[in-house]
Amino acid sequence: MEKKNIDWGNIGFGYIPTDYRYVSNYKDGKWDDGQLTQDPNIVLNECAGVLQYAQTVFEGLKAYTTEDGHIVTFRPDLNGERLESSAARLEMPIFPKERFVEAVTETVKANDAFVPPYGSGATLYIRPYMFGSNPVIGVKPADEYQFRILCTPVGPYFKGGVKPLTIRVTDFDRAAPHGTGHIKAGLNYAMSLHAIVSAHKEGYDENMYLDAATRTKVEETGGANFLFVTKDNKVVTPKSDSILPSITRRSLVYVAKEYLGLEVEEREVYLDEVKDFAEAGLCGTAAVISPVGKIVDHGKEICLPSGMTEMGPVTKKLYETLTGIQMGRIEAPKGWIHVI
Ligand code: PLP
Ligand code: COI
Repeated sequence: MEKKNIDWGNIGFGYIPTDYRYVSNYKDGKWDDGQLTQDPNIVLNECAGVLQYAQTVFEGLKAYTTEDGHIVTFRPDLNGERLESSAARLEMPIFPKERFVEAVTETVKANDAFVPPYGSGATLYIRPYMFGSNPVIGVKPADEYQFRILCTPVGPYFKGGVKPLTIRVTDFDRAAPHGTGHIKAGLNYAMSLHAIVSAHKEGYDENMYLDAATRTKVEETGGANFLFVTKDNKVVTPKSDSILPSITRRSLVYVAKEYLGLEVEEREVYLDEVKDFAEAGLCGTAAVISPVGKIVDHGKEICLPSGMTEMGPVTKKLYETLTGIQMGRIEAPKGWIHVI
């Protein structure tokens, strides 16, 4: 296959339509066989469940070209599992995780000319999503749904690549205890838009959300989990029922322990402790690991001693090992790499 003529090294995190997308419809209690289509547009009834009551969930994963020229995805089974639990929480039908992985594979294969070459710094972002499609006016779940997968080639999520980020502690809450913070639902992102626009206006890259109940514990940002490193090289990451269970974070915990021999603590992390950490980073599919240099808490600046100008040493090792596994330079744990 001939690659598309795209300036891979200079694309940002935006939407570039590819040739094919996957569509499956749910009606009368079952999913149809699903197929690829070239039509990027969706015609929906004006009263569709998704438009009225935001009944939609999604996933995010990437396809990579490995050093030896294969196209692979990273742990897509976990995205399939997470979509199942997101759908269940919003009273949507389950798109089975086995079918999810097959559909991702088929969609990436059809768009192989859009998978950025090895070493370009870009990847193919894959966005599976599902929404209520039939008319709903009383508050209740839809009866019909559409599952789709679109792809788009992307560069770094944060402009400036690995330049350390400045984030602020926000007064807005992202998720309530017993709410929907642990699932990947569009509604969690809609309600974060005001906070991110206001953070950007004030010169910050992202928001650090605290736990809504006590406002003393670190949760996550609008689109990534936190990882911290202590001065004695322990990796610390917040544990909470109201954050998204990041696949990148779970993988990094394993990498830290099993590849780098580091001690890892998954536990509640108090905002008060953050000033004592040596390194901080945001982790996620889009963010990969983006170093945080400064956290501002209502005018009080916390400068991470490592990472003000570049990635701290432990963050860098984690980044290099994870991306090495994803790009085929480092042997992956069994089942992590799915060859397309
Ligand atoms: N937290 C939020 C709110 C996210 O949107 C994402 C992105 O998917 C993550 C964390 C990171 O999750 P993952 O590593 O599975 O991409
Ligand atoms: C991802 O990392 O896949 C996400 O969904 C985060 C989003 C903010 C782009």
